[in-house]
Amino acid sequence: MTMSTLHTITTHKKYRELLAEWAADNTEDSDQDKSGSLIPNATVLVAFRTRPPIDGEVELFDAPLDDEETDDEEERVNDANHDHGPRAKKQPPAPQPVSKIPAQRPPEEFMCGITARSRRMVVHVPNMTWKGAGLLHQSYPADVCFGPDATNEEVYEQTVKTPGLIDLAVQGGVACVLAYGQTSAGKTYSMMGLELAISQDLFSLLPVDDTGKTQFEVHVTFLELLGNKPRDLMRADEAGKNIEIREADTGNVHPVLQSTQVDSAKELEDVIVRCLGHRRTAQTSRNAKSSRSHAILTILLKNKTPGGAVSEIILVDLAGSERHADSKKHSAARFQETRDNNKSLLALKDCVRAHVSGAALVPFRTSKLTLLLKPIFDRKASRPTRTVVIAHVSPHIQDAEHSANTLRYVSQFKAIR
Ligand SMILES: Nc1ncnc2c1ncn2[C@@H]1O[C@H](COP(=O)(O)OP(=O)(O)OP(=O)(O)O)[C@@H](O)[C@H]1O
Ligand SMILES: [Mg+2]
Repeated sequence: MTMSTLHTITTHKKYRELLAEWAADNTEDSDQDKSGSLIPNATVLVAFRTRPPIDGEVELFDAPLDDEETDDEEERVNDANHDHGPRAKKQPPAPQPVSKIPAQRPPEEFMCGITARSRRMVVHVPNMTWKGAGLLHQSYPADVCFGPDATNEEVYEQTVKTPGLIDLAVQGGVACVLAYGQTSAGKTYSMMGLELAISQDLFSLLPVDDTGKTQFEVHVTFLELLGNKPRDLMRADEAGKNIEIREADTGNVHPVLQSTQVDSAKELEDVIVRCLGHRRTAQTSRNAKSSRSHAILTILLKNKTPGGAVSEIILVDLAGSERHADSKKHSAARFQETRDNNKSLLALKDCVRAHVSGAALVPFRTSKLTLLLKPIFDRKASRPTRTVVIAHVSPHIQDAEHSANTLRYVSQFKAIR
């Protein structure tokens, strides 16, 4: 047994004791934590989610990849070629964990670094001092929290239905969900669930006239922003690549995207699934199917009655934030993407902060991502908006420091509103 293995076993034993002590002292949240309306009537709502551990994942921490990471371009094209057939796939294949376990490293056990309570998450952050291994228990408040057993249906219920996001759009507003968090924390898993659940419900929530017809037209666009390169996910061909994003003199932001009109839940779901199949993914040390990009699905509701407004539901699966350790094996191009992604996530944070605090100016022109989200940040716009930010964190104690950063980043929005 090597010294480092012995060290890991010893510190894990200590962490287990400290976690058990903490759990014994913190059995339930106080009544005060649970009182009041569950979902406040605020412009920005804060949700946290953690996922269960994935089989074989523990062994991946700091595991070297045998090969250079490869883009999953071939698979993406295959999806695009096959998904128009009569036996179209309903869901893109679920990402699988990478199965590369270095022979010299003993498998480690899973150790949980997160406790989800109804309206806060506690991160148990390892803290090595001269006294030895310790844990800092850091608590972050949210409007709603989801533990590892929560289903996508529950997340939809609490983050879309209860806050009335679809109703807001039907009434002419702009509703937005932002999935934020570390790579592999479960953003794409959540957003796919929400996108398909919204597809199921949307048409039944559109008002109808006496003849039973709705006065709304539903249109969809789907854009991927990889680093700083936008791409139209509606198109798998060359025309979808590196499209232009510009702000017109009228103030409208125009990515030249193909918009598809849909007339039923099934059509909407099919379009979403087809576009998701066009997303580029890459294998990284933390996620066999890492998205690497921001993906923005916009569902436009056009009210055809005279003077009727165009309203929007904007669903954003953000690129994962990465630790240096997660990105150090990247190729130069991949590293640049990570830098661009991190920059746009910082710009987004500044915009959401300014938006929540009611600042006169929201700096949404500082990145392509935030420019694309102008409908929620534009102070001059008259449409009401509501945004739900879902922060995703890994359940592993090895990720606790990153998780604490993620939850701190997002819980600020609750603190300043
Ligand atoms: N709540 C959950 N329950 C079960 N499995 C989950 C859950 N969330 C995520 N997973 C699984 O965890 C893995 C990573 O999730 P996902 O690809 O959604 O992460 P991500 O945050 O989008 O990562 P990246 O930023 O790299 O794209 C996938 O295999 C996914 O199926
Ligand atoms: Mg993803």
